[in-house]
Amino acid sequence: DVEVKSLYRESLLHADSEITVSGWVRTNRGSNKFGFIELNDGSFFKSVQVVYEAEFLDNFEEIAKAPISAALKVTGTFVLTPDAKQPFEIKAKKIVIEAGSDPDYPLQKKRHSMEFLREIAHLRPRSNTFSAVFRVRSMVAYAIHKFFQDKNFVYVHTPIITASDCEGAGEMFKVTTLDMNDLPKGDDGKVEYSDDFFGKEAGLTVSGQLEAETFALAFRNVYTFGPTFRAENSNTARHASEFWMIEPEMAFAELADNMDTAEAMMKYIINYVMENAPEEMEFFNKFIDKGLIDRLSNIINSDFERISYTEAVDLLQKSGEQFQYPVQWGIDLQTEHERYLTEKIYKKPVFVTDYPKEIKAFYMRLNDDNKTVAACDLLVPGVGEIIGGSQREERYDVLKERIEEIGMTEEDYWWYMDLRKYGGVKHSGYGLGFDRIIMYITGMGNIRDVLPFPRTPKSAEF
Ligand code: 4AD
Ligand code: MG
Repeated sequence: DVEVKSLYRESLLHADSEITVSGWVRTNRGSNKFGFIELNDGSFFKSVQVVYEAEFLDNFEEIAKAPISAALKVTGTFVLTPDAKQPFEIKAKKIVIEAGSDPDYPLQKKRHSMEFLREIAHLRPRSNTFSAVFRVRSMVAYAIHKFFQDKNFVYVHTPIITASDCEGAGEMFKVTTLDMNDLPKGDDGKVEYSDDFFGKEAGLTVSGQLEAETFALAFRNVYTFGPTFRAENSNTARHASEFWMIEPEMAFAELADNMDTAEAMMKYIINYVMENAPEEMEFFNKFIDKGLIDRLSNIINSDFERISYTEAVDLLQKSGEQFQYPVQWGIDLQTEHERYLTEKIYKKPVFVTDYPKEIKAFYMRLNDDNKTVAACDLLVPGVGEIIGGSQREERYDVLKERIEEIGMTEEDYWWYMDLRKYGGVKHSGYGLGFDRIIMYITGMGNIRDVLPFPRTPKSAEF
């Protein structure tokens, strides 16, 4: 079989040759003498037009009735049609039906709402939009690995089941087991669960950072890339209960190095997708977010802004804007504030640094003012926070004091404290929300529409 992607990318190579393409019917229309099928073979979000005529097919009537989503194998001549609406077509000589399709197939040829498509997560990858989104998602994953591997970073697999709540926000899902001893007793039909399988309470990871730090102090530069879980009960367009995160961690690096790496990574990823998925990007630009390509091109060619939290608060207060949530030093920036900074004030990605220690995690390095920590969040237009990072507190005593101050159990972090005892050099890292960068690059407005199988509160269909 020839891939439809190759028909688009290398049309001249195939011109006037006999080819075979296997795929699914997207549309089928015609008369009693001829018809047109849009066939999608999965190699590309675009389909190829197949023209079939009664004169050449002995099964013409059967093909004329082939419903949307039937699977066909088509052999015919590939002809360029420079004067027609579509650039080329296949003039069929033979069409074999490989699989039929029921007429109640829910994805008919019309615009469906995103909400409707979410209800059929098992079928929506067959639509043009989701075909483009998930191919780009796959490509971005590859680009991220390539960026770090080319720089000699080691890819480390941090555990999914863990006892440490890295962010300390109490958003961990608990891992329990069916209590086997209790099973025979269950005549009330109630299932008993037990959480002593691991000998202590365990949960699903909210971040691989703490474990990544152990590897950074052995390999110098490392990164994680895996699923993370948060029981955040916030129903927004950018939070999911299961999402993917990339967490580089670098020894001998401070906050500025951290931001340099993050900025270079962002530019690399965007450039990679623009070069390798130009057709998908044009599609998003036309149907999902007008101005997307311009915006992303500008980003590659200009420096990201870097401002401190204190400066950000000052700018927001002076803006005269009536925010729902009033701005004053010490508050955690809300999405409305983040978006105002990047969309209204700077119109480009902005790093905000040095947040008050009270609103950030325990592991961030305390600044000399004793009030702020060496944190850096990257905010981007349309999405808001896409990266959260910091220089880590490498000073044993300062970290110990911080852990006590917050009321965490120091014994649980003995191994983390050990890193500070044995060659605990300064080090930094950040977490990139993978699903959020997919939103950013495709222009999709809801995280549910860039996750293949979104898990959010009250929603995990299968
Ligand atoms: O800012 P966060 O919570 O940072 C950390 O977890 C650090 N341990 C990272 C590090 O320094 N290694 O999360 C990092 C990023 C956010 O900026 C956001 O893009 C994404 O992860 N994120 C979510 N994405 C989707 N759904 C959620 N519920 C998310 N929570 C965070
Ligand atoms: Mg954050």
